[in-house]
Amino acid sequence: MFDALSQKLKLIQEEAFKELSSLAISPAINEKNLEELKIRYLGRNGKLTEVLKDIGGLSEEDRPKIGQQANGIKKTLSEKINSLLYSLKEEGQKKEFQKMCDTSLPSRTLDIGKRHPLIQTMEEISHIFSRYGFQVAEGPEIETDYYNFEALNIPKHHPARDMQDTFYISEDVVLRTHTSPVQIHVMEKFKPPLRIIVPGVVYRHDDDTSHSPMFHQIEGLLVDREVSFAHLKGILTYFVHEIFSSKTKVRFRPSFFPFTEPSAELDIECVLCNGKGCSVCKNSGWLEVAGCGMVHPKVFEAVNYDPQIFSGFAFGMGIERITMLRYGIDNIKLFFENDLRFLRQF
Ligand code: PHE
Repeated sequence: MFDALSQKLKLIQEEAFKELSSLAISPAINEKNLEELKIRYLGRNGKLTEVLKDIGGLSEEDRPKIGQQANGIKKTLSEKINSLLYSLKEEGQKKEFQKMCDTSLPSRTLDIGKRHPLIQTMEEISHIFSRYGFQVAEGPEIETDYYNFEALNIPKHHPARDMQDTFYISEDVVLRTHTSPVQIHVMEKFKPPLRIIVPGVVYRHDDDTSHSPMFHQIEGLLVDREVSFAHLKGILTYFVHEIFSSKTKVRFRPSFFPFTEPSAELDIECVLCNGKGCSVCKNSGWLEVAGCGMVHPKVFEAVNYDPQIFSGFAFGMGIERITMLRYGIDNIKLFFENDLRFLRQF
């Protein structure tokens, strides 16, 4: 009895494995016929179960032996079927995936962000001055009338206030119209000698192809003993040669600012026509790039510096204008539209 049963099991095993291996290499293999095979051998009415029905006729000691043999067959057979099922599913998913997407297409490129051209220019300018020992300082964009005007020797009702179309938040609070108020903040906090460079956003009620209501300036301030206009000329000439070219000519033209005396306008030879005259320089051959001058004694008095002991110079320039001239950009709006076709060029 035992031998007969054991032999039957062996035959079933052989038969099942034979069937399974031919199914495994057949193109007709699918989840359905694999499941069917599993049921046919291991199911509740399967061949293996059928044989085990006769187990009751065995002796106590033979029963577990046959049980063990049958379990071994069950285990290896279902393991094989499951692994075939698993790879079938995987294959199916792969095919599904290939139907959905064409893996031969080139991949999308990753866009890596870059600094905005205005920020690039601002950082470059700060770097040029840092080589002369200037340190970067910053201040608030919302200012009181005192810092934006009064302390800079621009009293109320002074005609110079008309030079700057101010956005008022209240009678006494404004959006700063220039970076010059940071001069006051820094001088209130620190004693001379002092060398600072102040990049920042400023606001003016002005809007056309070369003006924007929000734009960027960079301010410079140096205070020490025996500072002269020659120092100012030297530093700004060095700056122009660094940011434009070593051949760019400069000139200092007398001007007026309430917070500097004497005051000047820094002009450079037109970088677009090399001084010959064009529409950008309005046929003058020169371009205005910065306002500058020696710090007015009234400004020193406002921050308790003794004008008898200290002197200094200051300058301020528009970052948009410098960037436009460097790259031949003719419309200031391009900086604020965030059109990638424009931004990618820098
Ligand atoms: N603040 C001036 C402006 O905005 C520029 C300037 C700064 C002039 C410092 C002289 C000294 O036009």
